[in-house]
Amino acid sequence: MLYRGTQRQISQAPVLLIWLADLYRPRAIATGNGTTADGLDYFESFLLGVIDAALAAQNAVVALESLGLGTCYIGAIRNDPETVARELGLPNGVFPVFGLTVGYPDPALPAAVKPRLPQANVLHRNRYDAPAATGSLDSYNAALKTFQGEQSIPRIDWT
Ligand SMILES: Cc1cc2nc3c(=O)[nH]c(=O)nc-3n(C[C@H](O)[C@H](O)[C@H](O)COP(=O)(O)O)c2cc1C
Repeated sequence: MLYRGTQRQISQAPVLLIWLADLYRPRAIATGNGTTADGLDYFESFLLGVIDAALAAQNAVVALESLGLGTCYIGAIRNDPETVARELGLPNGVFPVFGLTVGYPDPALPAAVKPRLPQANVLHRNRYDAPAATGSLDSYNAALKTFQGEQSIPRIDWT
């Protein structure tokens, strides 16, 4: 069983997808072709793999939800990536970026979209607006606590 901590959805969901940043494959291919793959040692290459995994996963989420399935990203697999790597037989250079549980939502337990930060805090025009990024979060804290109460999860200020 993969690391699941206290997150029951990981053991309850019929499918847990693990999304990987794979720098093993390009290095192995380069080595097989008798070339070096020095570029893979740059942080940029790792970031590229992480971005690719996130883009692919989000497209999968959109497709799955269009079919009536529900999903939940699982960043918690990075709590213990070495155990995950051993369990999945990941070679050197392959990193588990996040998991994604997939299943049919229980109609008896309706979920809701978590409130998003106000647009004023996250959208910048032409230049980063530092005061706006951190300003006026009282109403967001209140909205989040209402959501947490409705979802029967601990009520904690976002700030
Ligand atoms: C990268 C990433 C990792 C996440 N990890 C977890 C997790 O380990 N456990 C969990 O219950 N939710 C996790 N979430 C889900 C968030 O807690 C949150 O519920 C979700 O992003 C909001 O979804 P919504 O659009 O349905 O409101 C994660 C989300 C992202 C984007």
